[in-house]
Amino acid sequence: MSKAEIPGGAAAHQLTRRSLLLGTATGTLGAMLGAGPATAAALGAAGAPPDNEIVDLSTAHAFYGSAEQAGIMTPQQRYVLYMTFDLTSNDRADLQVLLARWSAAIALLMQGRTVGQVEPTRANSVGADTGEALSLGPASLTVTVGLGPNIFTDAYGLADKRPARLRDLKQLPSDSLQPDLTGGDLSLQACADDPQVAYHAIRDLARIAKDIGAASTRWAVLGFGRASAGKGQSTPRNLLGYRDGTRNIKAAEDFDHHVWVKDGPAWQRHGSYQVVRKIQMHIENWDTDRVSDQNAVFGRHKESGAPLTGQKEFDTPDFHKRDSEGQLLIPATAHIRLAAHENNGGLKILRRSYNYTDGINRYGLLDAGLLFICYQNDPAHFEALQTKLGASDALNEYIAHIGSAIFFVPPAPRPGHYIAEQLFT
Ligand code: HEM
Repeated sequence: MSKAEIPGGAAAHQLTRRSLLLGTATGTLGAMLGAGPATAAALGAAGAPPDNEIVDLSTAHAFYGSAEQAGIMTPQQRYVLYMTFDLTSNDRADLQVLLARWSAAIALLMQGRTVGQVEPTRANSVGADTGEALSLGPASLTVTVGLGPNIFTDAYGLADKRPARLRDLKQLPSDSLQPDLTGGDLSLQACADDPQVAYHAIRDLARIAKDIGAASTRWAVLGFGRASAGKGQSTPRNLLGYRDGTRNIKAAEDFDHHVWVKDGPAWQRHGSYQVVRKIQMHIENWDTDRVSDQNAVFGRHKESGAPLTGQKEFDTPDFHKRDSEGQLLIPATAHIRLAAHENNGGLKILRRSYNYTDGINRYGLLDAGLLFICYQNDPAHFEALQTKLGASDALNEYIAHIGSAIFFVPPAPRPGHYIAEQLFT
């Protein structure tokens, strides 16, 4: 996916995590400890962020011009607002208008533009754009549109257009699903390096849906931290403190093989299946567990991210290696052993997840977890992995899958066209 520079304001928008985080840490720690900058810098050295972690809020991704929708293979941004919608009209023309208007609006939003006037000249009219992203820049916004299984029914005359592998997910051993966090007829995944830019995009797109009378909001999650790595990105950490995304899909040939749909009618090719799970973490329980046990849960070291059979993060795990007493170094119930492609007939999925928090629950406990988003060319691949993880993953003691949804993400439209236009022609 090509990146375009938006003229004006690039310098003002450019921050490096190093300058931001080290600057803050040095000031705060230095002041607290009465230490000079050198001491504070030394204290922070072990956790220094990598040089390549640059947030340039003037960066824009193109909506048109690539075969695939942005937000899958494009570099993962720092924030997400993910929302699903229920169709509220039985008229398929309303769905058609919605997809057309969403496409036009998303193309503008991804360039950092408004979807219409914020302050219309006629004083008694309502603004088309809500305005809260004015001057924030495009912030690498991508909005990815998904179509749920219920769209492809006789009610909309679309039963015969259903993508071959689109269906509800089967019930999985880990399911503790809450109905109000489950399903949806449409999904919008808005990712950006500024959370307000992502929020604004979804808010204005939801307004368009309501204005047409086509769809209403169903459930949403605001993710505040990247929890997967793509090509060239440093590996971030999930809320359990572990590096997440070390062995994620990064190579173009893996995308070709495992992520993009390559069969079926032309409007489906270069699409993908999006599976989303809202996974709650029992954080206080986790925090009382000793670190050797935490390492055994994942099969990796907490600080370095190295597999328990290696020294460095990217060392290949050795799933056969045993200690002097014959015990497997990466235990039989370790998350990475159960999920690794070596132990699943070569199966791989793209993870594009985010840390989320809903604040505090009614017991005063941290209400937080992982918004697990993955892409694959067959949702059965997710089901196969989750069936295995749900049955024996040591991580299950500390998590609960409370939300779930599945969507087909069509390819990007050509300029002048809109998403899934061929459904209606
Ligand atoms: C809260 C839930 C989860 C947490 C905290 C978590 C965390 C992690 C961590 C720390 C790693 C090791 C680093 C890496 O290679 O990325 C990992 C690997 C992986 N996870 Fe998860 N994960 C979660 C849920 C899931 C789910 C639901 C799936 C799929 C059904 C999954 C699939 C994988 C895969 C395929 C790998 C790579 C294994 C390898 O090749 O070594 N994870 N996960």
